[in-house]
Amino acid sequence: MKIFIPRDMAAVAVGADHLATAIAAEAQARNIPLTIIRNGSRGLFWLEPLIEVATAAGRIGYANLSVADVPSLFESRFFEGGPHDRCIGVVERLPYLARQTRFTFARAGVIDPVSLDDYRRHGGYRGLEAALSLGPAAIVAAVKESGLRGRGGAGFPTGIKWETVARASAPRKYIVCNADEGDSGTFADRLIMEADPFMLIEGMTIAGIAVGATQGYIYLRSEYPFAIRIMNEAIAIATRAGWLGRGIAGSRFDFDLEVRVGAGAYVCGEETALLESLEGKRGQVRAKPPLPAIKGLFGQPTVINNTISLASVPFILAEGAQRYAGIGYGRSRGTMPVQLAGNIRHGGLFECAFGITLGELIEDVGGGTASGRPVRAVQAGGPLGAYFPPALFDTPYDYEAFARRDGLIGHGGLVVFDDTADMAKMARFAMEFCAHESCGKCTPCRIGAVRGVETFDKIAAGIEPEKNLALVRDLCETMKLGSLCAMGGFTPYPVLSAMNHFPEDFAAKPLPLAAE
Ligand SMILES: Cc1cc2nc3c(=O)[nH]c(=O)nc-3n(C[C@H](O)[C@H](O)[C@H](O)COP(=O)(O)O)c2cc1C
Ligand code: SF4
Repeated sequence: MKIFIPRDMAAVAVGADHLATAIAAEAQARNIPLTIIRNGSRGLFWLEPLIEVATAAGRIGYANLSVADVPSLFESRFFEGGPHDRCIGVVERLPYLARQTRFTFARAGVIDPVSLDDYRRHGGYRGLEAALSLGPAAIVAAVKESGLRGRGGAGFPTGIKWETVARASAPRKYIVCNADEGDSGTFADRLIMEADPFMLIEGMTIAGIAVGATQGYIYLRSEYPFAIRIMNEAIAIATRAGWLGRGIAGSRFDFDLEVRVGAGAYVCGEETALLESLEGKRGQVRAKPPLPAIKGLFGQPTVINNTISLASVPFILAEGAQRYAGIGYGRSRGTMPVQLAGNIRHGGLFECAFGITLGELIEDVGGGTASGRPVRAVQAGGPLGAYFPPALFDTPYDYEAFARRDGLIGHGGLVVFDDTADMAKMARFAMEFCAHESCGKCTPCRIGAVRGVETFDKIAAGIEPEKNLALVRDLCETMKLGSLCAMGGFTPYPVLSAMNHFPEDFAAKPLPLAAE
């Protein structure tokens, strides 16, 4: 009898470890032989801790459990899929899961993350086997044909980046995985690393073969201790089994992989600041050109890609580029793991083809706000992303459609706010965040963000609001045009979208009466 209890950080935060201990103890006391598998999460976070029981009818779920539920679970013979108040039926039939197109997250929450056998049984390493038979040039061609674009933020075509590195001649080349995942409301990188780490290893190995790199690094934020542990465990297992190291799977290709832990600065997710940090220096942005693809880590040609970009590659190689390119919307091909967060009823990960509308994601999939109040705004694409009002909920989830509305998809995060949100405070916060996280290299960002905060404080205090609002717009223009990277360059997106869509929040507030 197999019971799946997630070891994912979000599930553990709401008691999954205690539950696993209590279930094991109860099973022993009752002399019931259970095998407990610590899987990753399916990304149905509002149901955690969600345990699953393997039955002939499929995996039956029991949701939102606590240790207090354990005796009654055993009374109900949950280990055979028995009925219980917390039973939610066959997990894969839940509309939230059944509606998804899980290309990249197909194994998440299904397999034991650190079992290579389980990974292989569920199609793991088929992409690498295909890659080895294709050879470097055909791998790059397949990634280009798939239409995969970088899932870290900028949406740059992954195949073109790989081609640039493949064409560069250098004594050494590197593959760097950007697992800094700093965007507010995002967790897709973490979920993959905790649920299906071999897929990321496989994707990075394929990248190494494609461009001629023999060393890879995963730059992982220190706030993800479980992901660090699981990735290191998986790397050791893959190395022992010959999937990493010299002559991968008996081929002529070598590839080594190491995890490097970042101390946690938002700007260290910016690719050049990340490379500085990897080299042991202060995480400060480098001027471009040269691009990292030409002169990256230690001055060598480097592929730097987001975790999800790299983790998408095994599917593309195993199933064929056309399968991936065959779905999507406009120039946004394949699937996106949308992360629903903030004040939302069904917070979690929803992988789907591009083209679904923002309104469908928030209202139908996410079920509206957790507070039950009307949605006021959705911040899309992290702290540098725009606020969308419900009037723009018809926007298709697509890089270009979002850009046309002065927004961005970024890493796929959607953070929901209800009608109690004060958008003037959110605009001020965007400037404050930029001031706090600025690497300090260029003036528009380093000084501009501080001036932005001061100006918003004057507006809030009722000091010349119209003049100061015009000043903020002028400042945003300077930051957009004059900043060296998107930290200062994109901070105007949340600021201006809040001002444009919610002008009523920026009107001068009457000063409180002295007696109040
Ligand atoms: C301030 C800032 C923070 C960023 N943070 C991240 C991050 O946490 N993770 C990430 O993958 N990309 C981040 N990026 C984007 C990276 O610079 C880069 O575009 C990305 O790693 C390229 O990989 P991709 O092409 O696979 O998206 C950030 C960019 C900026 C300007
Ligand atoms: S925009 Fe900000 S984070 Fe980027 S280089 Fe300039 S100071 Fe550094």
